[in-house]
Amino acid sequence: MSKGVQPISRIIGMGVSYPETILSNSDLEKIVDTNDEWIVSRTGIKERHIVKRGERTSDYCIRAAREAIAEAGVDPLDIDAIVLGTISGDFRFPSTAVLVQEAIGAKNAAAWDVSATCSGFLFSLYMADTLLAANRAKYVLILGAELLTPMVNWSDRSTCVLFGDAAGAMIVTKATDERGIMSVVIGSNGAHVDLLYSIGAGTASKGDLAASNGDRYLVMNGNEVFRHAVRVLERMAVEAVAKAGLEPADIDWLIPHQANTRIIRATAERMGLPMDKVFLNIHKYGNTSSASVPLAMYEARNEGKLKDGQTMLSVVFGGGFTWGGTVIRF
Ligand code: UT7
Repeated sequence: MSKGVQPISRIIGMGVSYPETILSNSDLEKIVDTNDEWIVSRTGIKERHIVKRGERTSDYCIRAAREAIAEAGVDPLDIDAIVLGTISGDFRFPSTAVLVQEAIGAKNAAAWDVSATCSGFLFSLYMADTLLAANRAKYVLILGAELLTPMVNWSDRSTCVLFGDAAGAMIVTKATDERGIMSVVIGSNGAHVDLLYSIGAGTASKGDLAASNGDRYLVMNGNEVFRHAVRVLERMAVEAVAKAGLEPADIDWLIPHQANTRIIRATAERMGLPMDKVFLNIHKYGNTSSASVPLAMYEARNEGKLKDGQTMLSVVFGGGFTWGGTVIRF
């Protein structure tokens, strides 16, 4: 019998999708006053994948979902719920989740979006685990998907260098052995909306924030977000590990939200985890918001790093603020 709590649910299929077009740091040097050295040393990002005009979030979700369903070997008709973490859906309404439902033929599913910024995937995982614990579902399709690059101000060097576009999907079902989601914790604090937001087509579009910053773009006070992120991520890591009935030494991999290598390094240090136990792919994709964790988990597994029987910890932090942590035994 392995150490730690018995999981209720587990992941049986994963899929990802991201645009082909790569924007490197040297490409960005031609757009704004920046340089590769600054971006790499401050963030860890070397390049990011960006969408072309006319592409939609649902396009990427559908591809990722199909791959996850194929790996899981489930009939789409057996999926009971589709929960999609996104703040960059195709429409103001309906949800992007219903577009995915229609495309994959999951006619028996209830489908909805979750608005939790970079924590959207963890919030969706939390819902899947809760639905399975309550015997309200047999198979849940969860996704984290974000096309943020159409939302950034390409003349603001403090934000436009950070983001990339991607989608990740997973099928979650009841655990049958010691493998699965051992803990998942989430939280929010609405006191700092002004530090990271985008008004877009929201009803605040004639409000004070709009008057000072313009409606269209993603706005971030990077320094302040950084400060909050480091503190909260450590707290999430400690909570998720304790709820799993484990200690930091039991964690084989930290697979965190890929927003900034310095934030990730600080979290690992505070947990006493060496960097060779930390999975990073931020250099290839930048910050893909709610897609970042499923994309990192997928790559960690497919590169043969995250192996069957190993235990991973993930922590996320995003605008809202929102946050979360999970411990999963693979
Ligand atoms: O995923 C959601 C959560 N988001 C995050 O976790 C992001 C958290 N924040 C961050 O990752 C970092 O704060 C940033 C990467 C956004 C910025 O790094 P920083 O070390 O906090 O830099 P800074 O904002 O303090 O800027 C330092 C300097 C400034 O110049 P001065 O005032 O010192 O002359 C900036 O104007 O760097 C300048 N700067 C740049 N220089 C070259 C800002 N952006 C750039 C740039 N290229 N792209």
